[in-house]
This record gives sequence, C-alpha cells and structure tokens, in this order.
Amino acid sequence: MEGVVNSFLVTFSLLALASMLASASDPSSLQDFCLTLNGTNHNVFVNGNFCKDPKLVTADDFFSGLDNAGNTSNAVGSRVTTTVNADQILGLDKLGISLVRIDYAPNGGLTPHTHPRATEVLVVTKGKLYVDFVTSNPDNHLFAKVRREEVFVFLVCLIHFQFNIGNTDAVAFAGLSSQNPGVATIGSSVWV
Ligand SMILES: *[C@@H]1O[C@H](CO)[C@@H](O)[C@H](O)[C@H]1NC(C)=O
Ligand SMILES: *[C@@H]1O[C@H](CO)[C@@H](O)[C@H](O)[C@H]1NC(C)=O
Repeated sequence: MEGVVNSFLVTFSLLALASMLASASDPSSLQDFCLTLNGTNHNVFVNGNFCKDPKLVTADDFFSGLDNAGNTSNAVGSRVTTTVNADQILGLDKLGISLVRIDYAPNGGLTPHTHPRATEVLVVTKGKLYVDFVTSNPDNHLFAKVRREEVFVFLVCLIHFQFNIGNTDAVAFAGLSSQNPGVATIGSSVWV
C-alpha cells in the first residue's frame, strides 16, 4: 500500500512540475500597481524592481506630457519623443505597453528599423506619411500605404519605416506592446 501511495505522490509531483513549466510566463500582478522605486541603491535584486510604497504614490506617477513637438533639425528630419514609458511614468512598470510621439519635417522620416519585442500601432494625427513594413524571407513582401489621420500596424520584429511626403510637418503617435520595445536601426546594425 505504501508503495502505491509513494508512486502516486511521485507521479502527482511530476505532473504538477510539468504543468508549472508549461505555463511559465511573467507573473501576474497581485496588486493594482507596483511602481518602480527610482534611484535607490540596493545590494540585492528581485525579479523586476522594488515597488514604491502605495501610500506615497501620487497622480504624477501616472502622467507625462507628449504635447511638445520634437526638434526635427537633424540629418533624418524626424524626432522620436519617448516620455510615456516605464522609466518616465512609473505606473507603467510591468504592464507591457509604451507610447511615443514622432515629429517629421517635410521630407523627413524614420529610416528602416525593427522593434525586437513589440508590435506597433501608429496613428497619424497631422500631415501625410508614407508607411510600410516588409515581411521576412523568402517573400519579403512590402505592405505600404499613404496615411493621413489614420492607423497603420507594424508587426513585431518586421522591418518598417515612415516618410513624410507632405509639404507640412507631420505628427504621429505610436503605441508599442512592450514597456521596453527596443529599436534596431538596420543601417546602424549593418554598417557598424
Ligand atoms: C533644434 O536643434 C538644432 C540642432 O541641434 C538646434 O540648433 C536648435 O537650436 C534646436 N531648436 C530648438 C527650438 O531647440
Ligand atoms: C529617476 O531618477 C533619475 C536619476 O535621479 C531621474 O533623472 C529621473 O527623472 C527619475 N525618474 C522619475 C520618473 O522620477
């Protein structure tokens, strides 16, 4: 009898372990929010960041402005403003989203790049943009559109770019499905 119980316990433990491994993912949050403690030196690390005391959290921890136009006086004629991410809005920590504003001068654009960890939804709010992404090998199919006050989706990891084909400045806002989407610019990556 004891042998049967033992083998049952071993089987049950193995099944429990297998199911834990199969469902491995980011842990769910056990509270409404867990804001990163900023600028504190600790000698130990947790899986993520230490949380700010909820009693000390204020509305400003959930706020950042994106109303200022970025300075597009540079070689590519565009500027990405990244003030809506977990580094700036502590309340976004561990929630897997971020938002950027992109300003484009006439003839300005963002050169071909990818985001290794995020799909992007781009909303054009001013001006006229040529937008595209290219699928992976072997098809390398180009999906392109001219967008004016409309939305375009760039799928995770795929190479994409935008170009202002209007006579005026253009503005777009892009939501990304990661708090740290990363960016790999093809030119800088290939011609290092
Ligand atoms: C924009 O950037 C250019 C080049 O760095 C600089 O000369 C200019 O003063 C900046 N304009 C503003 C409004 O900050
Ligand atoms: C976090 O700390 C850094 C360095 O002190 C500071 O520059 C940054 O503005 C802080 N971020 C927030 C959201 O308070």
